[in-house]
Amino acid sequence: MKFTAFGLFFIPTVVSFSHTALTSRRLPASALSSTLERVAPSAGVVPQWEEQQGLTEEEFMRSDMSKPDLSESLLECPLTLWDAEGIDLDAARESAAKLPAACPLEIRATEEDNKKGEEYFLENKDMIRQKLLEHGSVWLRGFDLPKSVSGHRVMTESLDLLPCLDPLHSSGLRKFSSERDVLYEEVNKPSLRQHYIGLHCESTTKRTAAYASFVCFKKATEGGGRFLIADGAKILGDMEPNLLKKLYDRKVRISVSNLDVPPSTPQFLKEGFKNLVDAAVAPKFDMDLEMIYEADGKPGRLMAIEETESPINRHPVTGQPVWFCNAHNHLRYLRDRRPCGVPEVGMTDVFFGDLGHLSPSECDEIKRVSEKHITAVPMSPGDVLLVDNYRTLHGRDVFNGERYHAVGWFSWDDNEKWRGDELRQREKDGLNQFVNKYMDWLPKDF
Ligand SMILES: [Fe+2]
Repeated sequence: MKFTAFGLFFIPTVVSFSHTALTSRRLPASALSSTLERVAPSAGVVPQWEEQQGLTEEEFMRSDMSKPDLSESLLECPLTLWDAEGIDLDAARESAAKLPAACPLEIRATEEDNKKGEEYFLENKDMIRQKLLEHGSVWLRGFDLPKSVSGHRVMTESLDLLPCLDPLHSSGLRKFSSERDVLYEEVNKPSLRQHYIGLHCESTTKRTAAYASFVCFKKATEGGGRFLIADGAKILGDMEPNLLKKLYDRKVRISVSNLDVPPSTPQFLKEGFKNLVDAAVAPKFDMDLEMIYEADGKPGRLMAIEETESPINRHPVTGQPVWFCNAHNHLRYLRDRRPCGVPEVGMTDVFFGDLGHLSPSECDEIKRVSEKHITAVPMSPGDVLLVDNYRTLHGRDVFNGERYHAVGWFSWDDNEKWRGDELRQREKDGLNQFVNKYMDWLPKDF
């Protein structure tokens, strides 16, 4: 079992903080203003977030009907920007070491900030967007505005973030919280609350959102559910160099689904089934999947496997090479050794590009370096994590009780070429609606 980071308070860099945060806690002021200090809690400490109050469900789910419905002319998730050739791994390690250590960077609301509401975000848009680029993630903490669907929309619009579809929207594995505000539900379902979601970018070989805004409206009523954040540049910088080179040279392929047919099935029927899935189901996922039998050695298993991709990619804006790979979430070896609540059809795995298998020690190294860089963020109602989806990976810990978190995805607001001109195609929504309605037990964590 893991969760090594969860027993400690991680104090990220703080840009501003309220007086009430200081006066009501036993945590010394010096710790609050420090950077990158992991401080074991003293006896009797009540973390600030314990008392943050949210709105009622009726209040936080309310959309502002005076604003236009954004779902009609919605942008498709942009295509993945691959720039992975000729990366000097030694130079990448050196440049990663020079990057700011705080991820996320924490920005706390003062009483004055909250009085300003929307105005605060309009005034500080450039600063927040710049910090997002520098640190890979910004934790907006203690703000009143994003405590509701309507307020969250005001905030993201103030920051000039441009909504788009989730990269997996057409698969049906994503469900809207509020379609007219282009806000998706996170993995809140009781059936998956004991399922640990490992680190990943919201990305497929084909599509990748530029930014995300993860928001908490209601934290888990019985604890847990910390949001996991890790800097992909730092993971690259710390990975055992021989493994990093091996993965970069051989590349990876990610399997996203298993369909088991009885091994005794006649060959022509197996081929027929494969062709049927290939022609009728796989294209709906908008993922360039190849159907391959028994890649993991299990007789009769048909696996849907993405195309070969590099586990390292240059950040589109900064050019910094980053670990851009969802292996910590998808490796079967790791899933089998932690809380995992998805049925076999939703189980995933990661292979080398030639479909060779990673050894247990290689999987363990990916786990070690990924978890070394995780910050486990205890989100309270109104807390928002802005994430640069090419730089920073995310996940979430298991939780108990009920919770309500949501996420908005965003395209390239300042780059027309990267954004593309694809709009939502309603005909793609058929599978989405079917899966949402009838197959709600499917995993929604990749
Ligand atoms: Fe995700």
